[in-house]
Amino acid sequence: MNVCVIGTGYVGLVTGAVFSDMGNDVVCVDKDARKVEMLKRNEMPIYEPGLEEMVERNQEDGRLTFTTSIGDAVRNAKVVFIAVGTPPAPDGSTDLSYVAAAAKEIAEAMTDYTIVVNKSTVPVGTGGFVRSIIEKHKKPESEFDVVSNPEFLKEGDAIKDSFEPDRIVIGAPKQEVAMALLELYAPLERPMLITDVPSAELIKYASNAFLATKISFINAMANVCEKTGADVSFVAKGMGFDQRIGKEFLNAGLGYGGSCFPKDVDSLNHKAKALGEDTLILDAVTKVNHDRTPRFIRRIHEFMGEVKGKRVAVLGLAFKPNTDDMREAKSVEVIKALLDAGAHVVAYDPVAVEKAKEVLPAGVEYAANAYACSEGADALVVMTEWNEFKLLNYEKVRDLMKRPLIFDGRNIQTLERMKRLGFDYISIGRPPLLNGRK
Ligand code: NAD
Ligand code: UGA
Repeated sequence: MNVCVIGTGYVGLVTGAVFSDMGNDVVCVDKDARKVEMLKRNEMPIYEPGLEEMVERNQEDGRLTFTTSIGDAVRNAKVVFIAVGTPPAPDGSTDLSYVAAAAKEIAEAMTDYTIVVNKSTVPVGTGGFVRSIIEKHKKPESEFDVVSNPEFLKEGDAIKDSFEPDRIVIGAPKQEVAMALLELYAPLERPMLITDVPSAELIKYASNAFLATKISFINAMANVCEKTGADVSFVAKGMGFDQRIGKEFLNAGLGYGGSCFPKDVDSLNHKAKALGEDTLILDAVTKVNHDRTPRFIRRIHEFMGEVKGKRVAVLGLAFKPNTDDMREAKSVEVIKALLDAGAHVVAYDPVAVEKAKEVLPAGVEYAANAYACSEGADALVVMTEWNEFKLLNYEKVRDLMKRPLIFDGRNIQTLERMKRLGFDYISIGRPPLLNGRK
């Protein structure tokens, strides 16, 4: 099938690469000429495991091309995916200006019948909004339909999630329209749900908000654990065995960041309020999440004592492992607070340093690896649970540090191991371990 994808960000680029790998002819369009030139040279603008090889393979085979020019790409495609950004507006609602611009450009370029698919995360009702823009700008003879096909991939696992999604949701105005999308996705042999357009749009927000709720719930339990001597790892494990609850997304820590959960919970909240509906649950989920880093910073001050003039090593900058995405990364808030308190911050991340430099204050020093980062440190702060941080030689880390003190915002170590190695170890929702030898 001839497919066009508008936007080559985390979603658009992965979607385009995966559809081409499935044998379709895909043109990816982006208005950012620098990105398009990079992609043509097979240089990835984002870090996503497995993506570069897939893009290279399909570009070489001629099934995947990149352009800044929407015209030909839309004219030749039966299905056009909108995968542009939907950032938060200052009031918490969703800024739909990129979606609107893409819809207008599609309308102006369309000739034959076209299925326009919203893959961007958009508030319920946006299908109608896109439809009205296309109606206004299309040529009189052009026919089209608007479909909602929300994306559920996670950064860092994007390729796997795209080939093996838990479900594919297709919100279409008519069964015949949904069939084109069914045909496109059929080779994946995954569960597919066909709905009306508003339901599909809301499934996306409800799913993200529910996952965010699980995270805030376990973090609220972690707070209770910290006051009672209970261990949140056991609590989460014990809850997760219940199949009705499930073990996923019950990792207590510094809360959710990234480009989606914070903005999507806010957007749903804004929408529900605008509809005059009760939003107590979403208010609470957000409130718990906002308190995660201030609470962590308070614990750093409580257990470290004077921070001024101390060398603090920060392991991990990205909002989560296996990505270089710094959007809403909790590391930014913690590092700014440490710098404000007069600490000397040395940071390391396996892939996010270049993107981090764009958002972190100039005072941060960057280390070449985790060991160099730990050298001479008065404390080590774990912000992102990269696998390599779990596998470090912690005897070496301990010996390199000035004081063997770890603040673990992601619970990457067991208390037993830290005790055996003689660290003072402050983690989330678990008793503080104070047995440092130095
Ligand atoms: P992104 O910011 O990484 O990429 C968006 C791209 O669209 C940019 O490259 C931008 O230049 C391009 N663009 C904007 N307007 C354009 C236009 N008119 N024509 C051509 N290109 C245009 O965004 P993203 O992270 O890929 O997210 C895209 C959407 O998918 C959002 O709605 C997001 O909520 C949703 N989503 C994201 C993820 C994720 O993991 N990042 C997962 C599921 C859903
Ligand atoms: C999330 C969803 O998982 C995807 O299904 C969805 O498509 C995507 O948002 C989106 O709509 O953009 P992503 O933001 O890539 O994906 O990352 P997650 O793995 O979900 O993590 C989000 C945040 O929650 C991270 O900051 C992570 O550290 C945090 N988290 C996650 C926890 O604190 N605890 C957990 O148990 C799980």
